[in-house]
Amino acid sequence: MAYECIEVRTEADKVGIITLARPKQLNALNDQLMTELGEALKAFDADEKIGCIILTGSEKAFAAGADIGAMAKYSFADAYKGDYITRNWEQIRSIRKPVIAAVSGYALGGGCELAMMCDFIIAADNAKFGQPEIKLGVIPGAGGTQRLPRAVGKAKAMDMALTGRMMDATEAERSGLVSRVVPLDKLMEEALGAALVISGFSQIAVMAAKESVNRAFEGTLSDGVMFERRLFHALFATQDQKEGMDAFVNKRAAVFTHQ
Ligand code: HXC
Repeated sequence: MAYECIEVRTEADKVGIITLARPKQLNALNDQLMTELGEALKAFDADEKIGCIILTGSEKAFAAGADIGAMAKYSFADAYKGDYITRNWEQIRSIRKPVIAAVSGYALGGGCELAMMCDFIIAADNAKFGQPEIKLGVIPGAGGTQRLPRAVGKAKAMDMALTGRMMDATEAERSGLVSRVVPLDKLMEEALGAALVISGFSQIAVMAAKESVNRAFEGTLSDGVMFERRLFHALFATQDQKEGMDAFVNKRAAVFTHQ
């Protein structure tokens, strides 16, 4: 499929890289971009060779939010009946392979929400995160008021949602919003390094780990622990478990076949 708002490539035949590509609009997220992003994510998810996906933007902006120009004219009826703005946004949640957000520059509003929908965020030192919707007379609409407090706690989430202020990369790492901060020119190298590590593991175990960590955010601790235990037990039915443990015992590198 030919895309206009994103660029798609693979690295080492194992990692899918999606670059948001509306640089003049600071990657403002319009309907077409979100549709294309959903298609590209689903295609990589279905590709057996791909073990991990990276989502990135430009140096200046991962994404400066949903497209304000496109939203400005909507009435409540438009937004609600057509489910405009948000209708394509949850597709990323159905992706079973890991998605790493490699964020440089602005990740604001829907851009911050999109990054938080990814499995973890690696940030460049120029990254700035924020939920400035309050300045536009609205609130976050793609999970920001739910995922941000889970990531950084209520105090900082409230501060950001109510004042619209931005958080720099250092504060984002200190608060637990991002897993790593690296110099801007090392961002893709770092993200690719992580993606290649993940791609070298059993895809089944990787998918199970993702599913299980996500469970920590929904439901109770005891349900989550039970879910994890069942998946852990189930992995003993895979060839990859035999291979991984045999390789360790025999002091050799494991070769996973994703079976
Ligand atoms: C549409 C946008 C945009 C956006 C920037 N642009 N953000 N267009 N939607 N969200 C456009 C500008 O209009 C401008 O176009 C060009 O990108 C460059 O932006 P500038 O403002 O000139 O750049 P700069 O002065 O460097 O300021 C950068 C910025 C600022 C601080 C990021 O652009 C900004 O505040 N943007 C809006 C951020 C925001 O409010 N995001 C939340 C949106 S609501 P021209 O044509 O003039 O060059 C949201 C709700 C999500 O995301 C709901 C879930 C679905």
